Amino acid sequence: MDWFSYINGELMAERLSVSAIAEQFDTPLYLYSKAGLQAGLEAYQQPLKHYPHLICYAVKANSNLAVLNVLAKLGAGFDIVSVGELERVLAAGGDPARVVFSGVGKQMHEIKRGLEVGIRCFNVESETELERIQVCAEQMGKKAPISLRVNPDVDAQTHPYISTGLKENKFGIDIIEAEAVYKKALTMANIHIIGVGCHIGSQLTTREPFIDALDRLLALTDNLKALGITLEHVDIGGGLGVRYHTETPPSPESYLSAVIEKLKGRDLTLIIEPGRSIAAPAGLLLTRVELIKKNDHKAFAVVDAGMNDQLRPSMYGAWHDITAVSLNGSESAPVVYDVVGPICETGDFLGKERSLQIKEGDLLALRCVGAYGFVMSSNYNTRNRAAEVMVDGEQVYEVRRRETIAEQLAPESLLPTS
Ligand code: LLP
Repeated sequence: MDWFSYINGELMAERLSVSAIAEQFDTPLYLYSKAGLQAGLEAYQQPLKHYPHLICYAVKANSNLAVLNVLAKLGAGFDIVSVGELERVLAAGGDPARVVFSGVGKQMHEIKRGLEVGIRCFNVESETELERIQVCAEQMGKKAPISLRVNPDVDAQTHPYISTGLKENKFGIDIIEAEAVYKKALTMANIHIIGVGCHIGSQLTTREPFIDALDRLLALTDNLKALGITLEHVDIGGGLGVRYHTETPPSPESYLSAVIEKLKGRDLTLIIEPGRSIAAPAGLLLTRVELIKKNDHKAFAVVDAGMNDQLRPSMYGAWHDITAVSLNGSESAPVVYDVVGPICETGDFLGKERSLQIKEGDLLALRCVGAYGFVMSSNYNTRNRAAEVMVDGEQVYEVRRRETIAEQLAPESLLPTS
C-alpha cells in the first residue's frame, strides 16, 4: 500500500503528512486515499479487460459521496440495498443504468424509485418480492429487469455474522426452488428476466467457495436454457477478503482468472459486487491517545475514538493493525496496551494487547478501515460522528465535516407542557 507509508518515521497519506492532517481536521478522523480507491477498482478492471463485465461497487462498504464519485468517474457501477443508497449514487454522479438493487426487504417505494430512474436490475430475494415488483411495474406501465439472487448453500468459511450463502441464512432464494420461481417470473407481464446471482459472504480468503457457488449457478443457467429462459448475466456478488492481520486472500486477478475460466464459451456478462476489497485498504482512522492508564495487570491506552466510530473490533472481534503515526519522539520501551475508547462498555476496544511506543497526546492510525468503518458508526453516548477527509496527491479535502452536538439534538423535542 504505497499510498500510506512511512517517510523518515512519519506516516504519510500519499504526499501529505498524516500528523498535519490530524492537526488541521482534529480527531477521530477517517482519512481516505483517492489513489488507494483507484487502485482497488483497477485491480478488478484490469483482469476483466477482455471479458464483458460490470463492476458494481457495494455502496454499503463506504457510501461517502466523494468515494462514490471517484469510483463512478472511473466507470464503476453500484450495488445498492436501499433507496438511500440509490439517492447517494445519483447525487454522486453514478449512472442508474449501472445499478443493481440487492437486499431482502425492498419496500414498494424503493422499488418504485428504482424503476423511475431506470436501474439495471433488481436482485430478487424472494417470491413475494417478485410479486411486489410485478405490481409496482404494472402500476407504472414499465417492465422491471430482474435477476434472482439464489442461495447456493455453500460454506463461505468466514465469520458467521458475514456468511450469507448457507441454507440457514435469510438471504436469497433456495437454489432448489429457483427454477420454479423463474417459471413464475416468465408468466408475469411486467417482469423481464435478465440474470442470476448470489452473494455467499464477506471476507472470504479462498477461491473455492466462490467457484463452488458459480458452478451451481451455471448448472441452474443450463437448466433454465432448456426451459427456454436465456440469461444475459451472472452476478457472483462481492466478498473477496483483505489482509487485516495474517490472512492471505487471493488477489482479484487470481480470483477472476478462475471465474473467467469457468465462464468460457458462455454468452454471459459477469457482474461482481466488491465492497471491502476496494475500499478497506484505502482508509485509516486517526485517533489521539487521551490518557494512559495502568494497573497491576494491564496498561490501557484510552483514545478519543470508540466503538461508535469503529464497531468491527467489538462486533466481530476483528483485528485492525494499530500503528503510531510518528515513530519519532518516543524513547520509551514498547508497552503492551489494550487500546480502548471512552464509551461505557467493556466491548469498547479498538485493539487488544498491542505493543506500542506511545505517550499521552500521540496519534494512532487504525489501518484498513476504509470499508465498514464510518458507515457503521453511530451517535452512541451522544458522540458526534467523525469527520472524513480524502487525500489526492498533495491535496486534502474534507468530504464530510464533523457533526455537532446541536445537529444531534435538532430532530428531538420535549413533550408539550400541559
Ligand atoms: N453484495 C451483497 C449483496 C452484499 O450483501 C455485500 C456485503 C456485498 C455485495 C459486498 O461484500 P464485500 O465485497 O464488501 O465483502 N459489516 C461487515 C460486512 C458485511 C457485508 C454485508 N454484505 C464487516 O464489517 O465485516
